[in-house]
Amino acid sequence: MTAPAHARTSADLIRAEEPVLAHNYHPLPVVVARAEGAWVEDVEGRRYLDMLAGYSALNFGHRHPALIQAAHDQLDRLTLTSRAFHNDRLAEFAERLAALTGLDMVLPMNTGAEAVESGIKVARKWAYDVKGVPDGQATIVVAADNFHGRTTTIVSFSTDESARAGFGPFTPGFRIVPYNDLAALEEAVDETTAAVLIEPIQGEAGVIIPDAGYLTGVRELTRRKGCLFIADEIQSGLGRTGRTLAVEHESVVPDVLLLGKALGGGIVPVSAVVARREVMGVLGPGEHGSTFGGNPLAAAVGTAVVELLETGEFQRRADELGLVLREGLQALEGQGVTGFRARGLWAGVDVDPALGTGREISERLMREGILVKDTHGSTIRLAPPLTVTADELRSALGTLEKVLGQAG
Ligand SMILES: Cc1ncc(COP(=O)(O)O)c(C=O)c1O
Repeated sequence: MTAPAHARTSADLIRAEEPVLAHNYHPLPVVVARAEGAWVEDVEGRRYLDMLAGYSALNFGHRHPALIQAAHDQLDRLTLTSRAFHNDRLAEFAERLAALTGLDMVLPMNTGAEAVESGIKVARKWAYDVKGVPDGQATIVVAADNFHGRTTTIVSFSTDESARAGFGPFTPGFRIVPYNDLAALEEAVDETTAAVLIEPIQGEAGVIIPDAGYLTGVRELTRRKGCLFIADEIQSGLGRTGRTLAVEHESVVPDVLLLGKALGGGIVPVSAVVARREVMGVLGPGEHGSTFGGNPLAAAVGTAVVELLETGEFQRRADELGLVLREGLQALEGQGVTGFRARGLWAGVDVDPALGTGREISERLMREGILVKDTHGSTIRLAPPLTVTADELRSALGTLEKVLGQAG
């Protein structure tokens, strides 16, 4: 008989996954059993500082008391209605999220990929109904090295072969231009273009920050050419970069905003398309939906997340602690770090390949009690919960220094 999960060791549990779980991930060999704030604990009781924060889904830390309270209160009252009926939590969530982002209307969904898919559908419908693009001709311009999720339409415009190979045929209607290249965008956008869809900072690509003026340029170009600007802030948004949204660093307001990850407070999957009224207004009854999108539990947690962001505290922390992160990484340049890109509490750190792959460095950090994850090659990504303290951050950077010193 199989021992109950709680009685098994980390090694047992990792072994047990192998025959029964799809191999679509390659997790670090740590089995997390409990967590609080910036810290997680494995099955054997070893503690680790979480410097990944669920790819920014845990911006407020694990089990933030206000979010857990909101979830508990809602669990005791009402969890799901489907959108066949109204529920008494959704209006406030939409009102406050729209106000927080400076936009008008919210389409609630669940995962990030669903928000991206939904944003694409809204943009295409807008192109046909409002812009007058001939039926079936709408194009969407995207950036190379993007990451927007894993559905068949989204991988259709990925430039990462491992995301695409074996999954065709692909959805047509996308044009790919280099990121951070306004001239290429100018050339690609034409009268068929419904939207330009980009990440204001490319997370999975290694925290790639475009030149100052790029986002302003995209805003100006899309306005002048009469197409929509869709900003995918699923990873960059909700406090991570020291602002509520990364586009705020250039005071840009997109037509359509895609949010996810931290919107669910690390408790439930909550995503949203947020847009101007003239854009979202193209959707009519029966044209799009999701059984779970906008469910009362998601709305209650999402509202509590918006409430935390309304205080400005987390954005401020990300901004201030971002300086500590930047200083620490600067000190490591030439000491095993060959370069880094950072904004707020978010950094892509390139490690000297002679010292090991990103994966190897991540495993060494794990053995020292720090959890991070590699992105590509020798790049690791740091994205701690925004609740991390300066001392914890310095200690993690000290551990990185130690690990790089030992490596090679
Ligand atoms: C920018 C961006 N968009 C979309 C997604 C997809 O989100 P999900 O994994 O919730 O589908 C991600 C996930 O990493 C992302 O970083």
